[in-house]
Amino acid sequence: MNEQAQIAMTLQTVLPELSVAEIESKIERPKDSNNGDFAFPTFFLAKQLHQAPQAIAADLIAKLDTSKYEKVVQAGPYINFYMNQGQVGADILKAILADPANYGRRDLGHNAPASVEFSSPNIAKPMGMGHLRSTMIGESIARILEKEHYKPIRIDYLGDWGTQFGKMMAAYKMWGSEEEVAKDPINVLLSYYVRISREADEHPEYDDMGREWFAKLEHGDEEAWQLWRWFRSISLERFQRVYKMLDVNFDSFNGEAFSAQKMGESIQLLRDKKLLKKSQGAEIVDLEKYDLPPLLIIKSNGTSTYITRDIATALYRKRMFGHAKSLYVVGAEQEAYFNQLKAGLKEMGFNWYDQIEHISFGLMSINGQKMSTRKGNTVSLEDVLNDSIDLARQQIAEKNPDLANADEVAKQVGVGAVIFHDLKNNRRNAVDFNLDEVVKFEGETGPYVQYSRARAESILRKGGLRDFSQVDLTKIGAEEWELVSFMGRFADVIQRAADNYDPSVIAKYALELAKRFNRYYAHTRILVDDEQRDARLAVVQAISHVLKYALLMLDIKAPDEM
Ligand code: ARG
Repeated sequence: MNEQAQIAMTLQTVLPELSVAEIESKIERPKDSNNGDFAFPTFFLAKQLHQAPQAIAADLIAKLDTSKYEKVVQAGPYINFYMNQGQVGADILKAILADPANYGRRDLGHNAPASVEFSSPNIAKPMGMGHLRSTMIGESIARILEKEHYKPIRIDYLGDWGTQFGKMMAAYKMWGSEEEVAKDPINVLLSYYVRISREADEHPEYDDMGREWFAKLEHGDEEAWQLWRWFRSISLERFQRVYKMLDVNFDSFNGEAFSAQKMGESIQLLRDKKLLKKSQGAEIVDLEKYDLPPLLIIKSNGTSTYITRDIATALYRKRMFGHAKSLYVVGAEQEAYFNQLKAGLKEMGFNWYDQIEHISFGLMSINGQKMSTRKGNTVSLEDVLNDSIDLARQQIAEKNPDLANADEVAKQVGVGAVIFHDLKNNRRNAVDFNLDEVVKFEGETGPYVQYSRARAESILRKGGLRDFSQVDLTKIGAEEWELVSFMGRFADVIQRAADNYDPSVIAKYALELAKRFNRYYAHTRILVDDEQRDARLAVVQAISHVLKYALLMLDIKAPDEM
């Protein structure tokens, strides 16, 4: 049981007309720990009890059984609770040490499936920074949901369909060669596409050729499909290299092409429900009552659209996974689009439309520069990660030249640095990326958190104690209590991250815990042989655990030494 619940139960004995949950929701944490660990404000009772808050507080305190607490004190209209630090602290420590991987876990999901679509790069185009953000935010959200007993289904909705594939095939047939593509698949395919788009002004027939190839694809022409499969698999191979570096594994790579095969049913449903309207030769769904632009379902030339595929996708996912929620981790620029998608599903009568949530995020720039595929202003993700690993390697070589598995640690630190930087701020904020800042061992960085934890591990190695079952954990002092009670909040923190689909809640918490630990470490001698030594080591061990599992929820590894 957590501390708030315990206090609420104590208070409920003297406030029988309120429920424990109601009381618990009013309990605050004073900013200044001199005012106790928890405070109960009485203002909200004044009306009901026809009494001034001060008098209520005095009254309640007189009747309360305060024996479980260090002390309970009235402060004006507040009742301040000072916890029995030794006892509460020992309970928290025990819980962490007994099962570190599950500490702080709550059963919010009851094992319900949650589909999480993220990354979703486009075939034959380099993965952009937006895709990197989506990948990291999505993977972290999946891990946070997993922690809270949801069953995430990770989906990479590849952009592997659309008229541009017709163009690419036409271009490849004119200028391409297998050897050239094999050398650098994504960039070479992209260069064909750029060339045919550019030259189409002078050669209008290129557009027709592109349309013809796409029509072939739609009609199941064997040669077109063979090319499609090849383009897709060599692109996916490249993407997989990045996923491997990031330790991200998908359950499904069903992308737009897969959904394109399933559109018939959706279009038929729209027709049956009389939602399709003709408009200038096209067929649309009107969304005026939602104050949204209409859904363009079938273009005037008879081809289907991106949103038609998304409707089919949504239906398929619901049927296939029976999800309780369905998240789409996609940039903020597509916000209106997802509102349209949800409105469309609502119009179709699917009451689960509100299980769909667009998990939006802000733009990422590099050294203040916006990235754009169209302007050729892109940065390869793999390069960014490799540069970061190199920087980490240099710093490790300086700090710890004898480190045994330096190469592996450099990877964990370099990749972790990039991920942490991406996740440490509210996902809706824009992020600027500057490699030197990101890989610093000091400041608000991933390496700082990893380094703090490695420092804890090093103390534990020196301390030589790993089994704390015989240690009297109540023997912690005031300084340790501050750290332990902060770790006692871990469950609330994870829940807040899950409720808001926001990994930054975890990242900020990990940073703060690392900071507090470093402050503690700077002025407390841990390995002195006094009667508190073993309890102090238990606190250090608990910190190491909590930092490790916080980092893991962000998809960042925690090396024991660095
Ligand atoms: N492939 C798209 C892009 O790169 C992202 C896909 C978004 N997801 C969706 N279900 N529409 O912008």
